[in-house]
Amino acid sequence: MPTSPRYALLATGLSTALLLASCDSKPTTSQDSAATTTTAPADSAATGTNASAMPTSASFGKTADGQEIQLFTLTNAKGMKATISTYGGTLTSLLVPDKDGKISDVVLGFDKAEGYLSPEFRKSNPYFGALIGRYGNRIAKGKFTVDGKEYQVGVNNNGNSLHGGKLGFDQKIWTAKPGSDSDGQTLTLTYLSKDGEEGYPGNLNVTVTYTLTNDNALKIDYAATTDKATPVNLTNHAYFNLALGQSKDVLAHQVTIPADRYTVVDANLIPTGELKPVKGTPFDFTTPHAIGERIAQVPGGYDHNWVLNQATGQHSAATVYEPTTGRTMEVTTDEPGVQFYTGNFLDGTLKGKDGVVYGKHGGFCLETQHFPDSPNQKEFPSTVLKPGETYHTTTSYTFGVRK
Ligand code: BGC
Repeated sequence: MPTSPRYALLATGLSTALLLASCDSKPTTSQDSAATTTTAPADSAATGTNASAMPTSASFGKTADGQEIQLFTLTNAKGMKATISTYGGTLTSLLVPDKDGKISDVVLGFDKAEGYLSPEFRKSNPYFGALIGRYGNRIAKGKFTVDGKEYQVGVNNNGNSLHGGKLGFDQKIWTAKPGSDSDGQTLTLTYLSKDGEEGYPGNLNVTVTYTLTNDNALKIDYAATTDKATPVNLTNHAYFNLALGQSKDVLAHQVTIPADRYTVVDANLIPTGELKPVKGTPFDFTTPHAIGERIAQVPGGYDHNWVLNQATGQHSAATVYEPTTGRTMEVTTDEPGVQFYTGNFLDGTLKGKDGVVYGKHGGFCLETQHFPDSPNQKEFPSTVLKPGETYHTTTSYTFGVRK
């Protein structure tokens, strides 16, 4: 049995089913996958009808070496739409109603694959909307020891490894299988990260399922199995601005994070091991605070891991309210931590959908996760997945309005 409480040992049949997604059912195609502003339809969920049975798909362009990139659009009964690209499993747009029923995009990104492949994007790599792996967040010096063996993984951030190294899961082409279940439309993405990729041990079979539920939630399920013990920490790197197109920055968003402590970091954002109480500091979001209220007191801005008060079972990681649009977002997860990052390194060089320029604090991320550098921090919950175990974690972003 696994020693870590993190991983449930699922019956072989179930894990095989989870990991054997293939692209065998054909979606319908559509040209208008990402219209920016529309009005919410009457709630067809009440009558038991779904918006459409299956997600649609369209071409999103090609990688530099000529691989096709597909873009899938999931639609729900209330008119919400999520578009996801097979490049990086990236959430490229998320259309959400505001308090007047107007539906518009709330995540940063690009209309075409070129935006994600451009030299400017690759240089700063902000990871807009991408799936992050094999290890989300930082590993000090890219070094760790598992089963008595030291590993060196790709170093790409001030001598440390960030978000999987030089070529993380955000830059891989995922195999996609569209579907639908009783909750809503789904997109199942699979990727095999081979033994030795970026220096990590073990063949890691990864399955990520996005579900756009008819209750206006985007749910992301992550599953993985390995044939050698390896650290795994998967997340999504969406940048939200619930008033995108109306406000250049996210400083007026009110955020609540149910965490009494955060992980203290050094100058390169590597945890020192200390879990510090947030009380009396600008990190205290246990009651709602505007992002901009105390951000000037945090050098560089927020880019820290909060230690959620509840570590297991589905629990709240954060709630967000945007006063102009009335939009709310609740993030729930079974992870023990969340990286709250306020787009501190966005500097106006990237221009996204609808010509919007992404400047400092133009979006915020809530990356649910195990704590940074866990492979080197014995006191932190373990991130090591062993052969025979199945990694499984779920995070949902649920949208609503407050009038
Ligand atoms: C990190 C930031 C980093 C950003 C984009 C966040 O998850 O914590 O430090 O700049 O990702 O790369």
